[in-house]
Amino acid sequence: MNFELKSLSLAQAATEKCDALLVLLGDDYKPAKDGFSALIGRALKDGDAQTKAGKVLALYKPPVVQAARVVLAGIGDGSAKQVRSAVSAAYAAAKSDKLKKLVVVFASNPSAAALRAAVAATADASYSYTTTKSKGEARVLQSVLVGAGNADELAGGFERATAVVAGVEFAKEWANRPANHATPTVLAKAAQSLAKHARITCDVLDAKAVTKLGMGAFLAVAQGSEEPLRFIVLKYSGAAKSAAPTVLVGKGITFDSGGISIKPAAEMDEMKFDMSGAASVLGVFRTLSELKPAINVVGLIPACENLLNGRAVKPGDVVTSMSGQTIEILNTDAEGRLVLCDALTYAERFKPKAVIDIATLTGACVVALGAVRSGLFSSDEALAQALGAAGDAAQDLCWRMPLDEEYAEGLKTQFADVTNVAGRAAGAVTAAKYLQRFTEKYPWAHLDIAGTAWKSGAAKGATGRPVGLLVEYLLTPAQAAAK
Ligand code: BES
Ligand code: MN
Ligand code: ZN
Repeated sequence: MNFELKSLSLAQAATEKCDALLVLLGDDYKPAKDGFSALIGRALKDGDAQTKAGKVLALYKPPVVQAARVVLAGIGDGSAKQVRSAVSAAYAAAKSDKLKKLVVVFASNPSAAALRAAVAATADASYSYTTTKSKGEARVLQSVLVGAGNADELAGGFERATAVVAGVEFAKEWANRPANHATPTVLAKAAQSLAKHARITCDVLDAKAVTKLGMGAFLAVAQGSEEPLRFIVLKYSGAAKSAAPTVLVGKGITFDSGGISIKPAAEMDEMKFDMSGAASVLGVFRTLSELKPAINVVGLIPACENLLNGRAVKPGDVVTSMSGQTIEILNTDAEGRLVLCDALTYAERFKPKAVIDIATLTGACVVALGAVRSGLFSSDEALAQALGAAGDAAQDLCWRMPLDEEYAEGLKTQFADVTNVAGRAAGAVTAAKYLQRFTEKYPWAHLDIAGTAWKSGAAKGATGRPVGLLVEYLLTPAQAAAK
């Protein structure tokens, strides 16, 4: 899909040839003298249109406008949050199978964050997954023209917004693909396809190489499946070699059956989304390929299936991780932390300035935070602050969770250095405490995206989160400058 930004008044927007025109009206809107503005002014005065966020009024072929469908949508104070919900509501009102060309115009000058929100919400509302449908229906919406009086000063933010859309949609595509169309091998190919872009390289390790590295925890998960594992190493080099990279580690369980500790049948299909952390890493690299910022980033993806065969790891088995720590696997369904712990140890070799892992790690995090905010865990104050602020700015929210030492109590065992599960209480926190044991050499944060990475039910599908948060974090000057 093609996005374009242009300086447009409402009078000019009215003359644009398109299938639908969305007009975003803030509380500060003052109608000008042209016919379209006068019409909007009257609708506001009569109370049929409102500037309150979420209020929409749909019109059909008003005489002064070229577009067949026109939607007036309130954006209240014009904040990113209000714009996001207004654009979703307005798009729903304008949606049709003829909607190929859309114009979205701000009636008064938006902030950079508001513009980004409009782009993100338009892309989100018009996205559809098609890869495994026989008719290969293409996306209906082809082009979006965004109009704002201050378009000139917003060009940089607009470029970032469209690059994030490309990253979010790359992440959605891979997370949405069924597990038989996104095996570890296929996922590695997707990563390798990113290496066609300048500054990006990709190495893929197989079981032999992973064995040599001593990744006993990762191998234990993979051994229950016929499908070979892959360990994906992506590098984006935009700064000097001497500049410490940020390392992103994405959980890449392409299907999580639970293993011998098998999951119940209901909704087990959704465990194809258990590589959403990996998909978000791929998405971030897709965005980096477009923006080419002066930073270094490494992406690590331990990818395998969590299945069960005659060789599958069993509850009670003890394995040795790459760090040397031995792990008693009490529940084979707590596999995410097993593949992640070896990737976190591997991350040490990059002498990173920060390591952030992204994982659909615990059902407990869904219980704690639902689908609104991802769980954020970090032992590093500055990193936690920066990620929280990035989430706010990108409207891709997270919420800090605790890491008190007392939470690690349940991970003790007579048979190994650590177990992979504690009790039912605070399951998202005990999972994070397990991971923390493998992160002593660098500032670390963990994002549990179990509740935010996909939607269930009728609107089932990947969200592309937290690509927006991660890109915002990576491109915030404090991170980009601290070379
Ligand atoms: N991938 C799941 C977590 C998950 C469950 C994400 C439901 C989204 C929705 C993870 O591998 C898992 O199975 N975790 C277990 C851990 C437990 C055995 C300690 C869980 O949350 O039940
Ligand atoms: Mn599991
Ligand atoms: Zn899992």
